Amino acid sequence: MNDIVTLENSILAEIDTAKDEAALESVRVTSLGKKGSISEKMKTLGGMTPEERQKTGPALNGLKATVTEAIATRKDVLKREAISARLEHETIDVTLPVRQSPSEAGRIHPISQVVDEITAIFADMGFSIAEGPDIETDYYNFVALNFPDGHPAREMHDTFFLESDENGERKLLRTHTSPVQIRTMEAQEPPIRIVIPGKTYRCDSDATHSPMFHQMEGLVVDKTSNVANLKWVLEEFCKSFFEVDQVKMRFRPSFFPFTEPSLEVDIQCDRSGNEVRFGEGNDWMEILGCGMVHPNVLRSGGFDPDEYQGFAWGIGIDRIAMLKYGMPDLRAFFDADVRWMKHYGFRPLDMPTLFGGLSS
Ligand code: DAH
Repeated sequence: MNDIVTLENSILAEIDTAKDEAALESVRVTSLGKKGSISEKMKTLGGMTPEERQKTGPALNGLKATVTEAIATRKDVLKREAISARLEHETIDVTLPVRQSPSEAGRIHPISQVVDEITAIFADMGFSIAEGPDIETDYYNFVALNFPDGHPAREMHDTFFLESDENGERKLLRTHTSPVQIRTMEAQEPPIRIVIPGKTYRCDSDATHSPMFHQMEGLVVDKTSNVANLKWVLEEFCKSFFEVDQVKMRFRPSFFPFTEPSLEVDIQCDRSGNEVRFGEGNDWMEILGCGMVHPNVLRSGGFDPDEYQGFAWGIGIDRIAMLKYGMPDLRAFFDADVRWMKHYGFRPLDMPTLFGGLSS
């Protein structure tokens, strides 16, 4: 009987000192498990005299019950201790600011925003988007657009030329998006209705000129399009883009080698306050060049000018972005200054649409 008391004391001591649930489980296995100390003792009952068994049996059952209960009690205590320890470790400071997700913190550059706005407006009128390479040949940038070699209008383009290649050809950085007119005419049959947003390059730099800038070209070729259609398209574009009900536009005669007649377009505005306002006032601001596609350009594109005709225009994207969003210095567009982007940038999930609003 003495050894049962000793066994009980030693098991209870182990239970008391078990420092976690795993240690407690191993005490359970070594005492109550199949080969545990208590189970081994139970097995000796068979070899005892009935009198011994009558005394030892209940004592062993009592031991088993005591140990089982002690383990359950200790387990409860250990569980509660573990939870308090976790709570102490995993405290959350609810006063910390919530970290913004990239889709909330990121900003869309005004140029990308304006390109998306332009795309939404012209897509609604049935135009598609066309693109071409930034590195062009002299042929596509000039010759095919009716600037023959030595034509004085070439001088106005301040072209960046590349080194001659192995064939002696000197490529250049396109000075306008107009070469994509030719590339599109070569690749598509009329009717053609495209807009071409893209990067353009000229050797020029000040507050309103950057050596890399953006243009949006437009081209329509079919059998009947005329100056009245051109004026309507541009007027609708300006109203949608500047988000006003009325705009007054002034079409002035001008010259471009690739259009005949050629026109420059001014838009009426009010510059008396801090910002430029459209649809009112007594000032005019030049915003684009346009005209009827020159017969030589249609020929370069592979079309017979006696059968086909069309109109085209070119707008400076950076310039209309500055006008619409009141950004005074073009150079900041390309400084990659995060503070400027936070101020002038757009939220990435606010996609410009005609029905939902372009810039709201
Ligand atoms: N390519 C001209 C420029 O960069 C802009 C332009 C004017 C394009 C008239 C046109 C146009 O398509 O018809 O100065």
